[in-house]
Amino acid sequence: MNTSKVWYVTGASQGLGLTLIKKLLDSGYRVAATSRDAHTLSHAVGLIDSDRFLPLAVDLTNEDCIDESIRQTLAAFGRIDVVVNNAGYGMAGTVEEITEQEIRNIFNVNVFATVNVVKRVLPVMRSQLSGYIINVGSVAGFVGAPGWSVYSATKAAVAAFSEVIALDVKGFGIKVTVVEPSGFRTGFLTESSLAIITSKIEGYEAVKNTQDRYLSANGQQPGNPGRAAEIFMELTESQDPPMHLFLGNDAYNRASGKLTDMAAELEQWKATTIGADFK
Ligand SMILES: NC(=O)c1ccc[n+]([C@@H]2O[C@H](COP(=O)([O-])OP(=O)(O)OC[C@H]3O[C@@H](n4cnc5c(N)ncnc54)[C@H](OP(=O)(O)O)[C@@H]3O)[C@@H](O)[C@H]2O)c1
Repeated sequence: MNTSKVWYVTGASQGLGLTLIKKLLDSGYRVAATSRDAHTLSHAVGLIDSDRFLPLAVDLTNEDCIDESIRQTLAAFGRIDVVVNNAGYGMAGTVEEITEQEIRNIFNVNVFATVNVVKRVLPVMRSQLSGYIINVGSVAGFVGAPGWSVYSATKAAVAAFSEVIALDVKGFGIKVTVVEPSGFRTGFLTESSLAIITSKIEGYEAVKNTQDRYLSANGQQPGNPGRAAEIFMELTESQDPPMHLFLGNDAYNRASGKLTDMAAELEQWKATTIGADFK
């Protein structure tokens, strides 16, 4: 492994982000990591060679803060080789009962922060003629479950954005992967991370049932954050990393089921689809 690489990881005080940066630091990489609270982040990481670790207090919803964090990373390490847009949170509820502000807030963190970090880091990577961007999406962005409409929309946006920037920046030697996990054992399903808008509307049984099911799954998720972190590190060694990488057995089954169903539906409606063009 080429441990001279410099990583920039968002949302690193817990969960996947924290597990990743700890493994990176243990392996000898230089790491800039963002959190809303740099003290919590430093405390969570523990004693470490400060020449290789740059904890950054960053409000990812503020473009100037993102700018400053990239500037500080370059001042400390001189380059940025791998960016992991990891920060994000879930939101469960019916769209009728989620306020517009709540929807804007989650898009600001899950989507706009990712877009803005990418905007800020691309000039650096273009000048290096190299770089690798990993955006953390979710299997929910490809195959949604009842009750997760807004969260799924944010992660579908991350996936679509990733696909197109991958095409845009290929000529500069920059690679992009969207990683799409199913349930991983992190803080994701806890009250401090997940925004749950309890439905007061009669009906909506499918929404209420999945919410209960997901909440009771906390602590039992099959996904192993340690393995996810190792896979992220392995990806950076690949000459030809995937555009999409689903992580977890559940993610594989859901994605595979949807691809089969979509392929069949596409063919079933083929005549209508192509019949929409001018003759
Ligand atoms: N765990 C899963 O089952 C699962 C499945 C699919 C996708 N994902 C995605 O994986 C990523 C990491 O999540 P995780 O599982 O590690 O969950 P987690 O333990 O809750 O950690 C989420 C991280 O995201 C940051 N974050 C959360 N809310 C934020 C907010 N409002 N503003 C800014 N940053 C915020 C936090 O950073 P700071 O507190 O350090 O600022 C935190 O370290 C997320 O993008 C999530 O959507 C997770």
